[in-house]
Formats: sequence, structure tokens, C-alpha cells
Amino acid sequence: MIARTAEPAAPAQPPWPRSTAGALPAGSAERWRDLDYTNFKRRVLERFAIDLASYKSPQMRRRLRLLMERSQARTFTEYFRVLERRPDKQQEFQAFFTINVSEFFRNPRKFRYLGEHVLPELLARRSALRIWSAGCSYGAEPYSLACLLGAHPGEPRHYLLATDVDERILERARAAADYTEQDIRALPPESLERWFKPTGSGRWALDPALRSRVTFRVHDLLRDSFEGDFDLILCRNVAIYFTSDAQRKLFQRLSDALRPGGYLFLGPSEFIREGADIRLSETTTPSFYRKEP
Ligand SMILES: C[S@@+](CC[C@H](N)C(=O)[O-])C[C@H]1O[C@@H](n2cnc3c(N)ncnc32)[C@H](O)[C@@H]1O
Repeated sequence: MIARTAEPAAPAQPPWPRSTAGALPAGSAERWRDLDYTNFKRRVLERFAIDLASYKSPQMRRRLRLLMERSQARTFTEYFRVLERRPDKQQEFQAFFTINVSEFFRNPRKFRYLGEHVLPELLARRSALRIWSAGCSYGAEPYSLACLLGAHPGEPRHYLLATDVDERILERARAAADYTEQDIRALPPESLERWFKPTGSGRWALDPALRSRVTFRVHDLLRDSFEGDFDLILCRNVAIYFTSDAQRKLFQRLSDALRPGGYLFLGPSEFIREGADIRLSETTTPSFYRKEP
């Protein structure tokens, strides 16, 4: 059970008439808005098990304001009432805060390094790898890995786990039937030819043989327990939305989930400071960290 905090409830609207708001002591309106958001975060955690407190606040609040406008809610308290009443708005909220942007071989130079250096090194140690794409969105990332591994001779059965907190995006990932030109623009031509079929109107479907190599699962990086003994973890463009405290905890747990000598592959704007404390060292290629052997 989630403990309730003792903070006072924010009223549905600021406790002063709109016309007098300008005459309030400096900072009152700001404090009221902070309280409104604090209460909203607590209620969302209790009701929907979504931990907004671990996401960067200014960014999240800015984004939520757009949703609130669409629901004609003036405050977070009003918006929470809308969410309680309207399943369609709940879905919109979930989809909006999870920001699902992705594509195949996103940051192609990094994927080339992965394919030419990291995977061969790992495969020289072990023939069947354990790999986790954490925050995998609609599957472009784990399927890119499957493309790379599929290209290796012999193709042993690797364990390729792909997880995301967003259940609906995982349905799309499992279907793997409706990728756009934008999704596949960085795919090496040989992967496109080998693993994809056009379905008309600029859409592409993935070969079921490659699809079956990835195990998808709903998983919240902020709340759920992690599997272990991974040779490689990709957690890209996910931590960027988390507070620095949530990032620190996440990187520690990802390090714990890696085998000695295993690799962590982050997004281009994600960095680990003081990696030595959590047994991760930077490699010469930015975005790749190696767990101490
Ligand atoms: C911007 S996408 C990144 C997709 C892919 N990793 C890439 O770089 O192309 C971020 C993904 O992280 C997921 N996400 C956000 N919060 C999460 C959490 N607490 N646990 C797991 N996944 C989360 C979102 O649902 C979204 O699909």
C-alpha cells in the first residue's frame, strides 16, 4: 500500500477570485500551483501507479498543460477529476507522458559501432547472449538488434528482452506490421531487403521470423524488479525524462543487472557521472559504458 503524505489538499481552483490574482503577495500563485501539482502527482501514483515525481518537473508540467487545455481543465485538480471520469482521457494521458519517439538504427553511427565492435566482442565470450532493450517503445530498437544478430553466421538463440511501461505501445511492437518510411530511413539496405516487406502506402511489415526472436513485456523501470546477468542493456532516450535522483538509482540498478564486462548503451543526451561508484566505466565511444570485469 502506498503511504499518503500529510500535505494539505489543493482546492479545485486557486482560493481567490481570478480578477484579484494580480494583487496577491508575490509568489502565492506560484506556491499554489506547486501544491496543486504535488497533489496531482500523489493522486496519479495512488490511482494509476504512475510515478510522475521521478520525471523532470518543468518538462512534465509544460507537457501536461497541453493535455489539460484539451480537457478544458484549469488546474491539475480539475484535470485529475477528468481522468477519474474518462477512460479515453486516461489513455491519452498515459500515451502522452510516455513519449514514444523511436526509429530503426536510431543514431546509425552508434549502431554501426554496436554491430562492428560491441557484439563481436560479446559473442567471442559467449555464443548465446542475454540482451535487454529497456524502454523499447514500438519495437524499432530491439528489432534493430535482432537484425544485427541475425546477420551473424550460425544465429544461435539469444535472449532478447524488450520492455516498456506503455502497454499499448507494446501491442504495436508485437504486431510489427506498420512501420513508416521515417521509421526505417536509417536501416542498412541489406537489413531492409532481408527482413521487411512493403505493405502499401509507404508502410513496412517485419518478417515474423525476426519478430519471434524478441520477448516483449510490460515493465516500469522506476518500480519493477530487474532480471539480471545481461551481456548488453540498451536504455536509450528514457532516463533523459527522469530527475537526476531517479537517473542515479536507475543507472545503479542497470549496472547491477549487467554481467561483468557487459555493456550499457545510453541515448546521446544521457551521461553517467561518477560511473566508477557503480562499477561502470566510459568507453572511448560516447554512450557506451562497460561494467567492470
Ligand atoms: C523516447 S522513447 C525511446 C525509445 C527507444 N529506446 C529509442 O531510443 O528509440 C522512450 C520510451 O520510454 C518509455 N518509458 C517512459 N517511462 C518509462 C518507465 N518508467 N519504465 C519503462 N519505460 C518507460 C516510454 O513509454 C517510451 O516508449
